[in-house]
Amino acid sequence: MARVIAIANQKGGSGKTTTTRSLASGLAERNRQVLMVDLDPQASLSEGCGVELHKLQLTTYHVLIGSAKLADTLVEVEERVALAPTNIHLAAAELQLVNMNRREDKLRNAIKPIRDNFDYVLIDCPPSFGLLTVNALSAADSVLIPMTCDYYTLLGVGLLLETVQEIQQEVNSDLKVEGILPTRFDGRTLHAREILQRAQSELGSRYRIFDTVVRESVRFKESPIVGQSILTYARTSDGARAYRSLAEEIDNAPTS
Ligand SMILES: Nc1ncnc2c1ncn2[C@@H]1O[C@H](COP(=O)(O)OP(=O)(O)OP(=O)(O)O)[C@@H](O)[C@H]1O
Ligand SMILES: [Mg+2]
Repeated sequence: MARVIAIANQKGGSGKTTTTRSLASGLAERNRQVLMVDLDPQASLSEGCGVELHKLQLTTYHVLIGSAKLADTLVEVEERVALAPTNIHLAAAELQLVNMNRREDKLRNAIKPIRDNFDYVLIDCPPSFGLLTVNALSAADSVLIPMTCDYYTLLGVGLLLETVQEIQQEVNSDLKVEGILPTRFDGRTLHAREILQRAQSELGSRYRIFDTVVRESVRFKESPIVGQSILTYARTSDGARAYRSLAEEIDNAPTS
């Protein structure tokens, strides 16, 4: 049965989508079957997989409002990696869900019938704390938090961890924190090194900070343009190596 991991951080541009895409590829290289779920109306994940957004008939929007099964939305983006795509229409779901019963359970219920078909389900969240993120955290076994190494992002991670506790109390008592992933690290700046150290000293005793540190690299910006992950676009780059190492850390972690 798949491990369901939400990739979340309310801070925009913290590396959620890049992490979802690259980790999926890294796990697929390890022979895992992976489903990525695009839960962000910006649809960067879908776009970066080469999906033509305006041609989509069924998206995660239809799944959340109950007019499609998750299995019927899937597109295959590479060997062993499927995507439940989305487009801007997903923005309407947040409004429509407000009036629905058990509105925070929609994604969890949609994943249930296909959980046995995958080893991992990775959910790419939007940069906000709304109902879409709540649906992701409600459906997930754990949350993985990508964190750029700057001061405000570190503060934001503290807030996110408080929100995770609320979710644990109110909707998903089984939710774990998979770990915090330092991303876009630029070791030449003292600031980035200090923030990484602070994350380790302030959060490291209670939460896992991955050994993997993803460094700043322009390859990450180039790979979605050709619809690929960095693992196939720049196989031997530092960035590809980093996400392979993250996949190994996650795949080797105990599941309970
Ligand atoms: N390690 C990296 N080095 C350089 N650029 C990166 C790296 N990781 C991500 N980026 C780039 O930074 C930008 C933001 O990354 P990404 O889209 O993954 O963040 P996000 O958290 O999903 O953003 P949003 O909150 O808007 O959904 C993108 O242009 C991406 O290509
Ligand atoms: Mg994103």
